Amino acid sequence: MTKDEYILAIETSCDETAAAIIKNGVEIVSNVVASQIESHKRFGGVVPEIASRHHVEQITVVLEETFDKAGLTIDEIDAIAVTEGPGLVGALLVGVNTAKALAFAKQKPLIGVHHIAGHIYANRLLTEFAFPLLALVVSGGHTELVLMREHGSFEIIGETRDDAAGEAYDKVARTLQLPYPGGPHIDRLAKEGNESIAFPRAWLEEGSYDFSFSGLKSAVINKLHNAEQRNEVLKNEDIAASFQASVIDVLVTKTYRAAKAYDVKQLIVAGGVAANQGLRKALTDKFENEPIELLIPPLHLCTDNAAMIGAAGSIAYNQGHRAGWDLNANPALDLEQYGKRSTT
Ligand code: KG4
Ligand code: ZN
Repeated sequence: MTKDEYILAIETSCDETAAAIIKNGVEIVSNVVASQIESHKRFGGVVPEIASRHHVEQITVVLEETFDKAGLTIDEIDAIAVTEGPGLVGALLVGVNTAKALAFAKQKPLIGVHHIAGHIYANRLLTEFAFPLLALVVSGGHTELVLMREHGSFEIIGETRDDAAGEAYDKVARTLQLPYPGGPHIDRLAKEGNESIAFPRAWLEEGSYDFSFSGLKSAVINKLHNAEQRNEVLKNEDIAASFQASVIDVLVTKTYRAAKAYDVKQLIVAGGVAANQGLRKALTDKFENEPIELLIPPLHLCTDNAAMIGAAGSIAYNQGHRAGWDLNANPALDLEQYGKRSTT
């Protein structure tokens, strides 16, 4: 019988301080997330300096809780995986330096993980991957269609040319004076409203799998300003429903076209916006009668966590990837380049 593999994973790229222990790449032994949302709410978004400070305060507490819950010690850990990028540099640095210090002190292998690879691999904690697969990545910083032909390899076939989907949600929510992060609030309001306003859909050139959400965001803001000038009352629920209908229409249509064109076996949905009820339902309906398996993580694995970093880290570990003691935070780490890294 082969020995079980335990990976300790650390994630501090944005506003969650998170650690997890993953067994054999697919099983969550413990998964702890300390959210800072309450501290950033009053500023209407993440304040990088505050995020870094919270990570410094929280990281040892979160790590202790992760080991306590797992009933394991660091000596039983095979490797340490950490989000290396993309993200806020000061926030990433806390995780990277913690991982380096632990790995150095205990002489454990160190593995740098791409945050988006983590979001995609959150799905492998539930279902084994079947290739080729397509991942729709929709988070606060990214909107991408990623084709995977094998583990650890990522080909971006479409991406946003301006705002990410989550960013559009957050900006529209802000305009409607909803708290940060706005995505879940719009999602909730959309359920109660009617799609009565015809907001634009950015299809871009024929055949393109790219996205654009900044025009939609401007259309919502203009609509609100015009209504205000005319003393016309618009219901927030209807704005939310109409905005969400436009986002989902474009995301689902392009994803479906790409999934068929590349003849994929699975469609994976990843990132914070994968928590959106409207998107989950629209994708479920669209793929219901297709020979393509749809994987969407449960809500707590859609938003930032370290379990997903451990899942992606296990693949990198088994493919022989090792970071050196010079591992650094890389706020602009490229997903395709990350996938092409040679093993050491
Ligand atoms: O993946 P994530 O946790 O962080 C990044 O890596 O960016 O994504 C956060 C984003 C935020 O923009 C948030 O508003 C959005 O995900 N979000 C949602 C929902 N829940 C979170 N957007 C729409 N509907 C939701 N239910
Ligand atoms: Zn994320």
